[in-house]
Amino acid sequence: MQTQEALTERRSVRTFNAKPVPSNLIEIIIDCARHAPTARNVQPWDFVIVTKKETLKILGSLADNGRFIAESPCCIAVFCSDTKYYLEDGCAATENILIAAEDLGLSACWVAGDKKPYCDKVRDSLGAPEDYKLVSLIPLGYSLDKPVMPSKRALKEVMHMERY
Ligand SMILES: Cc1cc2nc3c(=O)[nH]c(=O)nc-3n(C[C@H](O)[C@H](O)[C@H](O)COP(=O)(O)O)c2cc1C
Repeated sequence: MQTQEALTERRSVRTFNAKPVPSNLIEIIIDCARHAPTARNVQPWDFVIVTKKETLKILGSLADNGRFIAESPCCIAVFCSDTKYYLEDGCAATENILIAAEDLGLSACWVAGDKKPYCDKVRDSLGAPEDYKLVSLIPLGYSLDKPVMPSKRALKEVMHMERY
């Protein structure tokens, strides 16, 4: 798949079939995540891959807008240590995960982490260090159908040449 196609065709998918995500694909995805840019190359992240049903259920019960995690075959939790640019860095890794998944024929959804009241509970339930920040949760798997493109602001509306 071409990069441009992965970027423009990716959609947030919230329902998956039961097929597990092969571990070699998860490794490729995390390898793509760790190549994301970070401020001063600090790379403050760690990634927890969850495939156990009981843990997925716990994550789904904690994330109020991510109940569907409970029914997903896999969920990646993106954590960062508490650095100045942890949020930007963790978001860059999250986007790499979404695009890598798309490229590999998988579907995924970014579920909010940072600023959510369940951050600490997710961190504790996954055994991450106490000073770590949950940036995102990313359920992923194989989708049978693709959601229609939600409305996106037009190129002409958002692109300003030289000045706003
Ligand atoms: C920071 C952030 C937080 C998000 N949190 C959630 C969430 O908690 N639950 C959810 O279902 N989708 C979440 N999304 C996905 C958005 O709803 C989705 O990206 C948006 O509707 C556009 O759809 P698209 O991804 O298919 O282009 C989040 C996306 C971002 C970038």
